[in-house]
Formats: sequence, structure tokens, C-alpha cells
Amino acid sequence: MAASAAPLRAALARSPAPAAAARTPPAFLPLPPRARGIRLNPVVLASGRGRRIRAEATARTRQEKEQQEAEVSAVEDSFPVREAAATPAPEEEGGFDDELTLAGEDGDWVVRFEQSFNIFLTDTVIFILDILYRDRDYARFFVLETIARVPYFAFISVLHLYETFGWSRRADNIKVHFAESMNEFHHLLIMEALGGNSVWIDRFLARFSAFFYYFVTVGMYMLSPRMAYHFSECVERHAYSTYDKFLKLNGEELKKLPAPEVAVNYYMNEDLYMFDEFQTSRAPNSRRPKVDNLYDVFVNVRDDEAEHCKTMKACQTHETLRSPHAVQSSVEADAE
Ligand SMILES: [Fe+2]
Ligand SMILES: [Fe+2]
Repeated sequence: MAASAAPLRAALARSPAPAAAARTPPAFLPLPPRARGIRLNPVVLASGRGRRIRAEATARTRQEKEQQEAEVSAVEDSFPVREAAATPAPEEEGGFDDELTLAGEDGDWVVRFEQSFNIFLTDTVIFILDILYRDRDYARFFVLETIARVPYFAFISVLHLYETFGWSRRADNIKVHFAESMNEFHHLLIMEALGGNSVWIDRFLARFSAFFYYFVTVGMYMLSPRMAYHFSECVERHAYSTYDKFLKLNGEELKKLPAPEVAVNYYMNEDLYMFDEFQTSRAPNSRRPKVDNLYDVFVNVRDDEAEHCKTMKACQTHETLRSPHAVQSSVEADAE
């Protein structure tokens, strides 16, 4: 998606923070003691007293982090797939009031089985991620975003195959899923710009999981598109909840940090056709987020995940998805 220079210059003129982003090295949270204004004499550091001071400082930092997490956990359960339904965030904070609910008692037992299996699977993956990435947010986001693109690629692969065989033709589904994968691609670029992919084991884990996940999703989608879309809804809901929790824990620090250049180029681009295309519950041009700092970037990413969630939910019930631009064209044609 090529960036146009004129609107980007206008965006940078409105906000000085993004302009600095291009020259600023990746920022990592939480900030080290030095960045928080703590200065220790090197002689003292080398002594037994220095070791004691460092041990005490480390213990204090760990205590502060655990306390912060406990505060957030008090209002938000660690399993967001179910919890998001109970405490939906208000629209003005980028939330969405769609609910993830199991099919009711009168629902088909097959649907209930599919959904229960998906929730169990998501639960298991979240449990593993919580163990591996407890203190490494950007690495966790990199893994999440690498995996998040996969189902859209899998949906397109299967739909393309069906179309080739002449079994079905769903151009709008392919178009919307491609736009979703492009949105996830830009999330991935943002996490890479923040240093989330700096350790080889994280890159290996993310890419190996993505390879495996692709074939699982292709099989599931061929067997039951409804089940595959529901599983994606669970994953997207977890992504939304992860970013929402991160914003609540680190909001003030994120507001002081610049936005990565790739985020400015993506959200402030003159050509936002593909950005509008994946948001099937909105009219084109109805969402134009700002990018003044790193906080705005994570708000935008979180809100994108909410839009993915809505689309995945709609896919489970609607026979054929409509591109937002196709809907707009038919509305305009009717008005003429
Ligand atoms: Fe994403
Ligand atoms: Fe997503």
C-alpha cells in the first residue's frame, strides 16, 4: 500500500510525535530503571551493597508489576473470550458490544459442540502464551499478529479452490478476507518496528505455529465454515482483550512514546480503501483514527481487532458477506 507524500506531510504537521518516530529506535516496555531516572554509582554497583540494592530494586519492580496486573485482573478476567461478553467496553473507548455466546439450549448440538471445542482450544493456546510471554509484551504481540493473518489466507485459499472447481463463487468474501489479512499484516509490521521479532526463538515459534495453523484452518473451513469463523472470532476477541489490557496497564507511558513510522503511513494514508474494506459493519470513510503517539497506535490496533470480531461473527450467520464498498454502491445507486 503506497503512501502518498502530501497527506502524510499534512498528518506530520498536525502532530510532531509521528515525525520523530522515523528516527527513534524501537521502544520497549516496561522502561529500565535508568530510563525511569534511577542512577546508581558503578563502584557501588560492583560491591556487595550494590548487589543488595539491585536485588531490592528488582523485587520492588516485580511487586509493582504484580500489583498493577492484580488491579487490572480485578475488572477483567484472564480468559477474555468468555469475559468480553460480560463486560463489553463502551463504544467511545473503542469497545464493541457484540457478545460471544454459546448457542442456546434450543440451538443445534453440533453448533454447541463446535463452539465449546473452539473455546477449549483458544483457552489452551492462551494458557501457553501466558506462560511463555508473561513479561514480554511486544514479543507476544508479534507472535499473535503472525498467527492472526493465517486464517484469512486459509479462507481465501479454500474459496479460491472452490471457485476454480466451479463449485461456488464468493468474490466479496475473498475481497473482505484479503483486506483483513492486509490489516493484520500492518499490525505485524508495527510489532516488528517495536522489536517484537528480535529474538530468534519467537520468530521460529510464531512461524512454525502459523504453518501448522494454516492447514488446521483449511481443514476446519472445508469441514465447517461456521466453526472456522467462530474459532477466528475467539482468536480476534483474545487479541482485542490483550491490547485493551495492555493499554490500561501502560497508557501513560505509551502516550509519551512516538508512533512507529509504519503505523503513521498506514493509518494516515491518503488511500484507505483497503482499511475500509475489512470493516463490514461500517460505511466506508466512517472511521479515520488519529496517530499522535504509541498509545493511539495501540488503540487503533485494538479497535481493528474489534472490527475483525464483528466480521467473523457476521460470517457465521450470513450466507454471503457483502463488501462495504459494494453495499455503499448499491445504496448510492438506489438514491439516484
Ligand atoms: Fe491484529
Ligand atoms: Fe485481528
